[in-house]
Amino acid sequence: MNKLLSLRNVTKTFPVRGTSLTVFKDLSLELEDGEFLAVTGVSGIGKSTLLHLVGLLDTPSSGEISLNNIVYSSLIPEEASKFRNQKVGFVFQFHHLLPEFTVLENVEMPFLIGGGGQDDARKRAREILDIMGLSNRLEHFPSMLSGGEQQRTAIARALINEPDLLLMDEPTGNLDPRTGNGVMDHLDALRKKRKYGCIIATHNMKIAARCDRIFPMNGNGENHAGEILR
Ligand SMILES: Nc1ncnc2c1ncn2[C@@H]1O[C@H](COP(=O)(O)OP(=O)(O)OP(=O)(O)O)[C@@H](O)[C@H]1O
Ligand SMILES: [Mg+2]
Repeated sequence: MNKLLSLRNVTKTFPVRGTSLTVFKDLSLELEDGEFLAVTGVSGIGKSTLLHLVGLLDTPSSGEISLNNIVYSSLIPEEASKFRNQKVGFVFQFHHLLPEFTVLENVEMPFLIGGGGQDDARKRAREILDIMGLSNRLEHFPSMLSGGEQQRTAIARALINEPDLLLMDEPTGNLDPRTGNGVMDHLDALRKKRKYGCIIATHNMKIAARCDRIFPMNGNGENHAGEILR
């Protein structure tokens, strides 16, 4: 197995009104190629913060993150945007679909932004939406979809560029257990076709148990949640 992701001694401190808040300190973590990892821990412990760092949406205060041996801090901003578009798929807790575009168009978007052609985009989007069980919802707008369908659309969008790493922040948070499990079934089905790593931040222990490994965050920073645990 090859190493997909590596975090070495990563610390994240936010400035807060003249003072600062360290959410986690010296956090180290590795992910193998194709590995599914669940990140768990109480509200406010830093799960989303961690995903934002790994997804190149924010930068660590210190420490090093690398994906496929590319060190994030070595990338200039344009390279970082391209890297994020090509290598990482991000599913937010609230789906962030564009309301004025259809399901098909929402899913095509990252591929077109990455410089892909319209025909290829359509073909890929149809394929991935088929795997997600949405081939009969292609022309729907997000507001016409159920919560689970919106979430699956967001996952399809995160996967269209065939990222090496899929990051999901509470992907099943708003779903009933059966639909949440269905989303996981879709991800597992896709995994059999194509190898990709995945980090899922979740409070749902049933979802966490379906991953290869669980990384419990326990708050070694100075945040409130850490204090509760100590
Ligand atoms: N931009 C910011 N500035 C200051 N503090 C922040 C910022 N972003 C997050 N925090 C703080 O960092 C801590 C971790 O937040 P984070 O969103 O990562 O938690 P979480 O584990 O995802 O929680 P939840 O389960 O509720 O989603 C929180 O205490 C939050 O207040
Ligand atoms: Mg969160």
